[in-house]
Amino acid sequence: MIIAIDGPAASGKGTLARRLAERYRLKHLDSGVLYRAVAQRMIDLGLDLADPAAAAKAAREIDPARFDDPALRSRRTGEGASIVSAVPEVRAALLDFQRRFAAEPPGAVIDGRDIGTVICPDADVKLFVIASPEERARRRALELTRAGEPVDEAAILLDIRARDERDMNRATAPLKPAEDAIRIDTTTLDADAAFDAAVSIIERRMAER
Ligand code: DC
Repeated sequence: MIIAIDGPAASGKGTLARRLAERYRLKHLDSGVLYRAVAQRMIDLGLDLADPAAAAKAAREIDPARFDDPALRSRRTGEGASIVSAVPEVRAALLDFQRRFAAEPPGAVIDGRDIGTVICPDADVKLFVIASPEERARRRALELTRAGEPVDEAAILLDIRARDERDMNRATAPLKPAEDAIRIDTTTLDADAAFDAAVSIIERRMAER
């Protein structure tokens, strides 16, 4: 079974993906980590994030099996990931890894921006998770506070809007729901309620098959 979960930054898709993977005993991949790792490598090497050739090279050099997760969670890295992810060669370099991950038994839950549209167009279930920008900024602020980063919620809201804009309007694999994706708006849902909504969608889908 493959479950594709797409949606904007801090919509709750990561938590949902993790919990669904546990529930259905599937592997989980947060595909954003791949783009973050590319950005982090460029930052570490002092390269210009806006240089597409350097980004493409960095994407070919990273080893998706070996990541330092906490270092990849920073605001700067997320912002950088959004920039490098618009480069078609970066996306191409990360495609195989994601498809192989999905195809390996016992199957996977993968969350990102283009999982239902590009990476796994034949996924058994596709979810598109959204929430208002204000609510997402609040959640991201909480997450960063917990990680010990200084937090300015107004700046985070601006980041989120800029990131949505960039992720939705890029030419290659923009953030958008697949035609057969089912939407979950988590603005007023906590993690448990979002999980319950997703499980009932999945059970319904599986029963139809
Ligand atoms: O989900 P995230 O915040 O970790 O993602 C960081 C950036 O990576 C996001 O702004 C866009 C990019 N990304 C992408 O283009 N495609 C994906 N499947 C996942 C993330």
